[in-house]
Amino acid sequence: MLSARSARLAVFASGNGSNFEALASAASRGELGGSIVALLSDQPQAFALERARRHGIEALTPPTGRFRTRLEDETPWIDALRERAVDAVLLAGFMRRIHSPILGAFAGRILNLHPSLLPSFPGLDAIGQAWRHGARVTGCTVHVVEDGLDTGPIVAQAAVDVRDDDTLETLGARVHAAEHALYPAAVRRWLTEPWHVDGRRLVFGATEASHG
Ligand code: GAR
Repeated sequence: MLSARSARLAVFASGNGSNFEALASAASRGELGGSIVALLSDQPQAFALERARRHGIEALTPPTGRFRTRLEDETPWIDALRERAVDAVLLAGFMRRIHSPILGAFAGRILNLHPSLLPSFPGLDAIGQAWRHGARVTGCTVHVVEDGLDTGPIVAQAAVDVRDDDTLETLGARVHAAEHALYPAAVRRWLTEPWHVDGRRLVFGATEASHG
């Protein structure tokens, strides 16, 4: 459990934002366990920004600097979160690595969604990686963000069978559908139920050491 009161959430997204849409729709139905107070994007053309405006959620594009795979200066991003009293950050198709200033300011309070069953197929094009590898089962993972590539304690996973007649497109569509169901449910559980971390394992259930 992250906090006793309803959590204030920010979502980071770089592109289409279909997972942002799933989160925002769940929030508007009161099913996310918190409210989304801002959508932050590193891409001014991202459709996710338009989705946010349609939901009446503030859409922001803080500066990114000169680099492609990370934010050159994370300070304006942290400032935007602090100004809005954000409790937790949800990465939803955010295509840059997060580093120590944000990780330090929001330690243990950032979740990521990844389109494979981690630790298989971290990094870019995870659905294509699983497809080309010939995996029989793939899926999606929600995990706490640490300073590693798609590492961090796992909150939830969903498996997706790879069918013999699948194409990359049909497989991708089923992984995305699984993501749209998994991420809001995982966020709600993480925000509203007691949990603790035991080694690498995030375990739901009350103990003296539980957050919340
Ligand atoms: C999702 O499949 C998400 O898992 C993936 O990007 C897609 C974003 O789609 N994220 C990563 O690969 C992060 N490593 P969306 O913009 O429609 O939500």
